[in-house]
Amino acid sequence: MTPATTPRLVTTAEDLRTALANAGRVGLVPTMGYLHEGHATLMERARAECDTVVVSVFVNPRQFGPREDLGRYPRDLGRDLHVAGAAGADLLFHPDVGTMYPPGYATNVSVGGVSEPLEGSLRPGHFDGVATVVLKLLNLVRPDRAYFGEKDWQQLAVVRRMVRDLNVPVEVVGVPTVREASGLALSSRNSYLTAGQRERAAVLSKALRAVQTAAMGGERDTARLRQVGLDVLAGEPELTLDYLAVVDGDMAERERVENDPMTRVLVAARMFGVRLIDNLPLLPDAEPDAGAGA
Ligand code: PAF
Repeated sequence: MTPATTPRLVTTAEDLRTALANAGRVGLVPTMGYLHEGHATLMERARAECDTVVVSVFVNPRQFGPREDLGRYPRDLGRDLHVAGAAGADLLFHPDVGTMYPPGYATNVSVGGVSEPLEGSLRPGHFDGVATVVLKLLNLVRPDRAYFGEKDWQQLAVVRRMVRDLNVPVEVVGVPTVREASGLALSSRNSYLTAGQRERAAVLSKALRAVQTAAMGGERDTARLRQVGLDVLAGEPELTLDYLAVVDGDMAERERVENDPMTRVLVAARMFGVRLIDNLPLLPDAEPDAGAGA
């Protein structure tokens, strides 16, 4: 399929199947819309690796808690078509809630383990909602590859675990986070912030960077690493911290960190009424410790 300037807009499962007949190698970029440069990077990667690029835009009600921002989540289909077209997407799949969850819908996908700490404990049901909609999108689009941003690191771990556990025939590709010049990770929710607030919200990535620098300098004690980040965050009075955690590839916190490229430092906080998350690899160039178990 040749990349179109404006992707074809498809809203039903039937039209999707027709549009994807003879599509070759299909890449899916699942999103909730209000597309930005981070999403564009995912689509560009899919464009480079697949014959047909599908971006889904669906604000999934099942992954929002009752007091979260489902009602005001930013939506702009015209803008999404434009960004998706410029990034080389062929199809934009935009189902409505009734298509995804018709009357009588009764199935929930629940991933244990990696979905339980951090976001999982603070946002009960969130990852069930994510796993359920992602599995539905994978079943509807049947892509060869699905692309997810590393900004939602725990989500990526949950999706990988689900795909592995349920033998879903797709390759999950994690794509590094795109940041503003200040270091702030791009997110559709940044649209809730003014330019000045976004500048101050970069304190999250500064804290992560400080923890990473300490780890790369040889610090291995998790409590001391956390304290390095907490000291940076303490300088921002507008910040209410949910967590700052150093976790291994199974999302578990250990007293000491291993030389493992999967070890990650994650942060979640509320600033100016907006909940923001971010993460970095703790030891980006790490080789696993000699003798460490598989
Ligand atoms: O990361 C997101 O935008 C959403 O959680 C996803 C993966 C599209 C599922 O709704």
